[in-house]
Amino acid sequence: MLVSAKEMLTKAKAGKYAVGQFNINNLEWTKAILITAQEQNSPVILGVSEGAGKYMCGFKTVADMVKAMIEDLGITVPVALHLDHGSYEGAKKCIAAGFSSVMFDGSHYPIEENIEKTKELVGICDELGLSLEAEVGSIGGEEDGVVGAGECADPNECKMIADLGVTMLAAGIGNIHGKYPENWAGLSFDTLDAIQQLTGDMPLVLHGGTGIPAEMIKKAISLGVSKINVNTECQLSFADATRKYIEEGKDLQGKGFDPRKLLAPGFEAIKATVKEKMELFGSVGKA
Ligand code: 13P
Repeated sequence: MLVSAKEMLTKAKAGKYAVGQFNINNLEWTKAILITAQEQNSPVILGVSEGAGKYMCGFKTVADMVKAMIEDLGITVPVALHLDHGSYEGAKKCIAAGFSSVMFDGSHYPIEENIEKTKELVGICDELGLSLEAEVGSIGGEEDGVVGAGECADPNECKMIADLGVTMLAAGIGNIHGKYPENWAGLSFDTLDAIQQLTGDMPLVLHGGTGIPAEMIKKAISLGVSKINVNTECQLSFADATRKYIEEGKDLQGKGFDPRKLLAPGFEAIKATVKEKMELFGSVGKA
């Protein structure tokens, strides 16, 4: 069932667990995540970066594929199709293409401009019943060309953006996209705590879910994080499983070169990663 992310995140915030956002890249990725969500009876958010949208031919192809897949696979758990780190124009395109949720990442604008653009999108999303994620402070590292310095969010600015009526708020708290460096200082729980105190019921979003130790994830959830984004970790497990298949020479045995066989270990690896995250985030059985 394709739905906005609002209800699933309100429930997650109240129930002190988090819903995973898993980014998709192609049909196999999408199918693996949807089937796992159904098996685990968990709500799920499919994330699509602007780069991934372009790769998959465009947002309309993505939206139509996801809707058809939900129907053909008989997926009954709540699924949100969400633009990840969208530009202002990208958010509007996804809304037109049939996404049920968008992120407008205005964190690189001065706060006044971030507020102005976010406010306009709140109006549009409210009217259409879509959920909207906004961002304050930046996520470090790089994801599909979106680069962030990684500065921690100002809690007062978070409050200003939360008060505009967004559905969920991503705040930089020392998190980074991609693998974490050896000398990473960890998440700033003081910042998270201050943001949560000021924003109350607002579901908070933790980006850069790959490689954050389980204890930190649990603490972040206890401090109001209700949505956690995971991208790189599925890419790593897919690549590892595919490499193993080829290194073992399986593509050279019989019809092992058939793409349906060649991509099967990577598909299973994504399923295992998504299941592990759903268990850690506490969303299993919460559909
Ligand atoms: P990772 O690639 O570090 O898991 O981050 C995902 C993310 O935050 C998507 O916006």
